[in-house]
Amino acid sequence: MGTVFKYGTVITAGEMTRADVLVEGEIVTLLGRDIPTDGHTVVDCTGKYLLPGGIDVHTHLDLSFGGTYSNDDFDTGHKAAAYGGTTMHIDFVIQPKGGSLHDGLKEWQQKAKLAQIDYAFHMAITDLREDVMAEIPTMVEEGITSLKLFMAYKNVYQVDDATLFRAMQQAEKNGMIVMVHAENGDVVVELTKKLLEEGKTDPVYHAASRPAEVEAEATNRAVMMSGQSGCALYVVHMTNEGAVEALRRGRALGYPVMGETCVQYFFMTVDEHMAQPNFHGSKYVCSPPIRTKHDQKVLWQAVKDGTLQVVSTDHCDFWFEGGVGPWQEWAAAHNGGEWAAYEAQDPTYRRPGKELGKGNFAKIPNGLPAIEDRMVMLWHAGVNGGKLTPQRFVELNCTNPARIFGMYPKKGTIAVGSDADICVWDPHKKHVLSAKTHHMRCDYNLFEGTEVEGVPVIVYQRGVCLLDENGWHGVNGSGKYVPRAPYAPVL
Ligand code: URP
Ligand code: ZN
Ligand code: ZN
Repeated sequence: MGTVFKYGTVITAGEMTRADVLVEGEIVTLLGRDIPTDGHTVVDCTGKYLLPGGIDVHTHLDLSFGGTYSNDDFDTGHKAAAYGGTTMHIDFVIQPKGGSLHDGLKEWQQKAKLAQIDYAFHMAITDLREDVMAEIPTMVEEGITSLKLFMAYKNVYQVDDATLFRAMQQAEKNGMIVMVHAENGDVVVELTKKLLEEGKTDPVYHAASRPAEVEAEATNRAVMMSGQSGCALYVVHMTNEGAVEALRRGRALGYPVMGETCVQYFFMTVDEHMAQPNFHGSKYVCSPPIRTKHDQKVLWQAVKDGTLQVVSTDHCDFWFEGGVGPWQEWAAAHNGGEWAAYEAQDPTYRRPGKELGKGNFAKIPNGLPAIEDRMVMLWHAGVNGGKLTPQRFVELNCTNPARIFGMYPKKGTIAVGSDADICVWDPHKKHVLSAKTHHMRCDYNLFEGTEVEGVPVIVYQRGVCLLDENGWHGVNGSGKYVPRAPYAPVL
């Protein structure tokens, strides 16, 4: 027997309709008014909305970065995601220096053994040798149809323009999309040096080392290269007017370019958040940095008018107060990895976190906790705030991620034949966001104390209940890898 979600209102990118939804096995098999219950399990959705499970296409779980590892892994990060209505994410595999793309993939497949929600991978290329160029088409066979290149993080992940362009040419031949972290990493190095020499070491100077122009210039460069190569481009974590204008211009020229912003960029500013005293500004350090109120307005307009197609999180969280306990000895004995096991010994033990950058903003691990709060914050400010229709909310969080990354209509919508990833949303339920109650492995919450109205109350993945009023039912290993199709549309 199946499950019928009764008496709710289904919201998709196209419409908002009163309909029941029948799920049999892992799939939606019928949508309609007054579907007979016929011995099926009934989920009463009176007064609720039924949304497709959210898809977060930009996450970094269990990532080795900035001298430590991001806190959330495929266990805790997945649970936190689902509590926020997200039932699938795409994480970035990082090609190890000197290694192959498959070496990186194996590492991430190992991390994903803990999976509680569905997942896919992008492939971040850090070392584009000839053998790696030849390996790119084999990624399509693995269901990986997006490549990521970093234009920043000099001497770590950064690639030069020739490398980016060659990757675009190869991607274009194989129906793949190229994603870029667009900041001019060479300029960042120079600005950082100057600021540190002037004794400007506090977290707020991280933003000064990566001004908006640095992002706008790199965005424009990538957009123009997309025009030259014909390769579909997706610019990640866009933050400011100059970058959005570069994208808008490329789109007007007919180039196959798209972009996302991340939820935090709608809410945080340098002045209010990064300038907080006593190192609290480090909680908001990410790259590119948070910007200004004016940029926030530009971003709202861009997600509304279609210049930006997706809202993601770039979830990559670190302790504010980390480095607690004998972590150095432990890391030496364990090769620096498996931090969750270390912290499980004693809840007061912590891997290093933001405190690594006390006295030098350039050493603060970059990244924020957001995977749990993306949809509720966007509903709260976007839908309740009159900036987005519920349908556009679904399009930005669920449908466009699936379309752009080759998973639609299996994922990203509620339709006959789609995976039954269903989020029952109570538009009137209120909840106060806090580190005390969130599920992310992080000792602070970006939106601490914010009361939101509209939250997920029941979440299903492929016909199985992940969470409801009785709590969490997810199981490690039940999340499935989702292979993705090439030649996905440019929106
Ligand atoms: O600050 C950030 N964004 N950390 C994660 C790595 C990246 O650049 O996406
Ligand atoms: Zn990035
Ligand atoms: Zn990222």
